[in-house]
Order: sequence, then C-alpha cells, then structure tokens
Amino acid sequence: PAFEHIVVEVRPGHVGLVRLNRPKVLNALNAATLAEIVTAVRAFDADSNVGAIVITGSERAFAAGADIAEMSGKSAADLLADVRLAQWEALRKTSKPLIAAVAGFALGGGHELVMVCDIVIAAENAVFGQPEINLGIIPGAGGTQRLARALGKSLAMEIVLNDRRLSADEALRAGLVSRVVPTERVLDEALSVARQIAARAPVAVRLAKQSVLKAFDTTLEVGLELERHNFYLLFSTEDQKEGMRAFLEKRPPNWKGR
Ligand code: HXC
Repeated sequence: PAFEHIVVEVRPGHVGLVRLNRPKVLNALNAATLAEIVTAVRAFDADSNVGAIVITGSERAFAAGADIAEMSGKSAADLLADVRLAQWEALRKTSKPLIAAVAGFALGGGHELVMVCDIVIAAENAVFGQPEINLGIIPGAGGTQRLARALGKSLAMEIVLNDRRLSADEALRAGLVSRVVPTERVLDEALSVARQIAARAPVAVRLAKQSVLKAFDTTLEVGLELERHNFYLLFSTEDQKEGMRAFLEKRPPNWKGR
C-alpha cells in the first residue's frame, strides 16, 4: 500500500523499517498516521521475510505526540467513535519484536509509541516525556500504566503529573531504554540489534517476547506458568533439535522457523 505519513521498507537481514515522516509537525501522530503505522506493522508481522521491526522518526523528533490541531476540537463521543484510535491496541499484539530508534522528542503519544516497543535504543539527544497535563488532559495510550510498571511510582508521577522530561541518560538509568548511542548512530544501532534478533530461531523469539511481556501483565505465578508452558512447547520444534545438535556438533545452527 502507498503511505502518506510514513516511509516503509525492508532492510537487509529481514528487518522491517517504519519511519515516521511528518517533519513539519515533528511527526505528530494524527489518526491517519497512527492507522498507517498499524497497517505497516501488521503487514510486517505477517511477512515471513521479516523477523524484527524497527520504528524510527527523524533526528529532531521521534514523535511530538498526538496531533494537537486535530485533537483540539474533538468531543469524548468523537474519540470513542474513532476506530483508528482503538487500533493502537493492535500494536501491543504484534508478535515479532518491535524496536524503537529514538532521537529528539518522544513526547505524549510519541512516548507511548516508544513504550509499546519491546526494545528502545536512544540517541544522546532523545527527550522522553508526557506533557499532556499542560493541555488539560492525561496520557491516553498506555502512558500512565506503562510508566508506572517500567519506572516505578514516584518517577512516573513526576512525569505524568508535572511534565518532568527525561534525558537519554536518565531514561537509561530508569530502565526505559536499553542503550544510548551518538545521535547519528541510533538507526544503525537499532537495525543491527534487529538484524541479530531476526537471525535467531523465530518460534523461540516469538515465545520469548510473549513470556517477557507477560511479566508486565499478571501475577508471578501465572507468568511462571506461561514461561514453563512456552519452554515445553519449544521442545516440539525442529529448531530446538537443530539448535542443540548444532551446539553438540560445534557448528552454527540452521534455523527453519518450525
Ligand atoms: C501538532 C505539533 C505538535 C503536536 C509540534 N507541532 N508538536 N503540531 N501536534 N503534538 C508543530 C508545532 O505546532 C510547529 O508547527 C512545529 O511542529 C514545530 O514545533 P515547535 O513548537 O516550533 O518546535 P520547538 O520550539 O522545537 O518545540 C518542540 C516541542 C513543542 C517541545 C516538541 O513542539 C511541543 O511542546 N509540542 C507539543 C508536545 C505535546 O504536548 N505533546 C502531547 C500531545 S497530547 P508550526 O506550524 O508552528 O511550524 C498526546 C495525547 C496522546 O500526545 C493520546 C493518545 C493517542
């Protein structure tokens, strides 16, 4: 499909790349842009030639939030009726790893898009925050829940109640991102991590992601049960036999994805 607000391509090493492309408004997420992101991510999730997905913006902005111009005149009923906003949930259901390469502003809905990703690589110039409170609203796409789970109560409260912004290094210390790299390197670094993961046993990657995500979603007991279930399940794959045989034969494995 042709996209208006994003650029989509498959990069070497089975990596799907989604680049937000509304530079004049710092990649503000209007409903059409969100719908395009969801369409592209879903297509990559279903594409057997893609093993991991990278989402990025520009050097100046990953995304500065929901599109305030579009949002300003809406009523509660308008928002409820807009199916494109509900599609946001579809991103959470992506089974392949989602990797965010974040430079510049990641604010509001842009920050929520970052937090729906599984791995976040930050540029030195990245700024993370939830400035919704300045507009008389609160985060609406998971910000309050994911921040509290990822960073703990006190920092989450400062960010959501008082527009505290985190630098890349603060985000690293808080556990929001897993690495900080020079700004011009951020996309390459994310693509490289994505390529590495895309080269791994696909079924194991998928169940690994599902298992880790469960930790944010349930009790320890239920999470441990799912982990064990997924662990047993992998012993029904050819890739488990191949991986262990390859280790014992001292050669690299040849993954089949089944
Ligand atoms: C619409 C936006 C925008 C946004 C920036 N722009 N952010 N337009 N929606 N969220 C536009 C500006 O109006 C401006 O357009 C152009 O982008 C450049 O922005 P500047 O403000 O001139 O740049 P700068 O001074 O560098 O400041 C950058 C900034 C600031 C700190 C990121 O733009 C800012 O505070 N933006 C709003 C951030 C925000 O409140 N986000 C949360 C939105 S609510 P012109 O035409 O003047 O050049 C939200 C709810 C999520 O996200 C709910 C779930 C869907």
